[in-house]
Amino acid sequence: MGVAVELHEVDRVYGEVLALDPTTLSLAPGTFTTLVGPSGCGKSTLLDIVAGLNQGYGGEVLVGGTPLTGPRAHTGVIFQEAALLPWRTVIDNAAFALEAQKVPRQKRREVAFEVLRRVGLSEFAEKYPHQLSGGMRQRVAIARVLSTEPDLILADEPFGALDEQTRVILGLELLRVVRQTGATVIFVTHSIQEAVLLSDRILVMSARPGRVVLDADVHLPAERDPSLLADPHATELVEKVWGLLRAEAEEALTRQGGSV
Ligand SMILES: Nc1ncnc2c1ncn2[C@@H]1O[C@H](COP(=O)(O)OP(=O)(O)OP(=O)(O)O)[C@@H](O)[C@H]1O
Ligand SMILES: [Mg+2]
Repeated sequence: MGVAVELHEVDRVYGEVLALDPTTLSLAPGTFTTLVGPSGCGKSTLLDIVAGLNQGYGGEVLVGGTPLTGPRAHTGVIFQEAALLPWRTVIDNAAFALEAQKVPRQKRREVAFEVLRRVGLSEFAEKYPHQLSGGMRQRVAIARVLSTEPDLILADEPFGALDEQTRVILGLELLRVVRQTGATVIFVTHSIQEAVLLSDRILVMSARPGRVVLDADVHLPAERDPSLLADPHATELVEKVWGLLRAEAEEALTRQGGSV
């Protein structure tokens, strides 16, 4: 099952720079929330804070009702780069997180094989990362996260380096497997369509200092499919988010231009 995530007046200052405006948010267990916003608005900062990887922020974060003090065993993080160990097979990469948890080898391999099966990679278990495509490597990264039975998954542009078709396929696949586990997800993307297609809720952030300027529920059927992007609600949402992002990006460009 997923956990609730609560942010109370969470902000982050780097030196003189306010990267994240005080932000208060409440995410329900098992929901899929996507953050979109201009480059540098603090999306990764927010995600890293919730991951317990970014210390020195202001305010308070509660995960499952417990104040966050650092990384948690059941929070899974997926980045744009799969960061696989090249000298390990796919199955040993998928089992990697279980090693730190001192799970015995045989059990590790059983669990890893099962999660590889769920992402369609069981036939590649004994291959090495260099024998896989970029999309398959990200599938291994997803499997590695699933192996720890996460109740919270934080994904920072996980499919940003992939072509659009692969991105859609992997996004829907991620959605399907997290629905099975009930994990809560916070996802970051620059693709508005991807945000609408995958999410229950979209948070649009302003240019730095990042602040939530739109908090929208996505009213699409639970069973997601690319054809839903033609749904009037979806197209309306895409336009609304695009309008806000264009305004934010233009403002950021003007500001950059003015400061050089
Ligand atoms: N460790 C750091 N030290 C100093 N400044 C930082 C640090 N990390 C991030 N920043 C600054 O904080 C702001 C927010 O950065 P962040 O990486 O969170 O943005 P982002 O929304 O993830 O951007 P992108 O879409 O490009 O990934 C940026 O202005 C960035 O330069
Ligand atoms: Mg980022």
